[in-house]
Amino acid sequence: MKRKRILSGIQPSGNLHIGNYFGMMKRMISYQESNELFTFLVNYHALTTVSDARTLKRNTIEAAADYLALGLDPEKAVFWVQSDIPEVLETTWLLSNVTSMGLLERAHSYKDKVSKGITPHHGLFSYPVLMAADILLFGGEVVPVGKDQKQHLEMTRDIAVRFNATYGETFIIPEALIEEDIGLIPGIDGQKMSKSYDNTIEIFCDKEDLTRQIMSIVTDDTPPHEPKDPKTSTLYHIYALFLDKAGKKELAQRFMEPGLKYSEVKRELIDKVWDYFRLFRERRTSQFSDRDLVVKILKEGAEKARAEASSFLVLAKKNVGLSYDE
Ligand code: TRP
Repeated sequence: MKRKRILSGIQPSGNLHIGNYFGMMKRMISYQESNELFTFLVNYHALTTVSDARTLKRNTIEAAADYLALGLDPEKAVFWVQSDIPEVLETTWLLSNVTSMGLLERAHSYKDKVSKGITPHHGLFSYPVLMAADILLFGGEVVPVGKDQKQHLEMTRDIAVRFNATYGETFIIPEALIEEDIGLIPGIDGQKMSKSYDNTIEIFCDKEDLTRQIMSIVTDDTPPHEPKDPKTSTLYHIYALFLDKAGKKELAQRFMEPGLKYSEVKRELIDKVWDYFRLFRERRTSQFSDRDLVVKILKEGAEKARAEASSFLVLAKKNVGLSYDE
């Protein structure tokens, strides 16, 4: 397959968990080998929900350090912070004028937030336009997203088609790559793992916290001497993330045979998770706890990204009539 430009924005929301990793990041990082990967931390988007400057700043640096420690390689991928390229906001304005109110009013994520009682501000309403700018400004061809972002991607395509039809060919129409199993990773209470449900297993916490999180994975009250159903077990599904095919089969077998004690399986799982992330954790401390180094990497990334952005923006401005060129 031809190398494609794969692009993705990541929310800098702090305390990475295994749902983030197995849901998206692991796969994203693998794209840096096979494709051209453009990935960035969406701190402008984060402003729609975070209003404390210190929190936003800290979350951004921490997320960058986490992502680098997990293996994102700034030599292979272009990695930056959204606000280091303010041209994305200029693009947002150009796109705003081909984005109908109706399109934005139909956005599920916006409607969900409003129905939960949040009083929306304009930033929240125009979130999808900024996201479209993120993608179009850098010529993203493929955007891997979970199902929750599918509609946002369709909106990006609509906006790009409309822009090109109005002003002439300018932007590449991106394709969504829907990662089906994203969002299926259960948290310790059995619901989808998410920071907002407070049911996560964190990647970079200490062993005590990890133990506490894993020991509180929900289990049913089947007594040890009875067989258990792995398919309906949250513990099984979480453990399976760390196993290959044969390992999963073996674990399923153990569940179905009498005698299995949930607490013993949990003890094993603690060690498994701890070992799995050992190298990442060491790298997180040894290399990326140096804030200056992280900032340097981000600034270099922004320079590379800006070089890509400028050609699309110059063309867009020319096509809408914001330039002196004849
Ligand atoms: N909206 C995305 C999310 O919440 C984040 C995002 C912002 C994004 N800009 C993007 C994702 C561009 C892909 C491409 O997860």
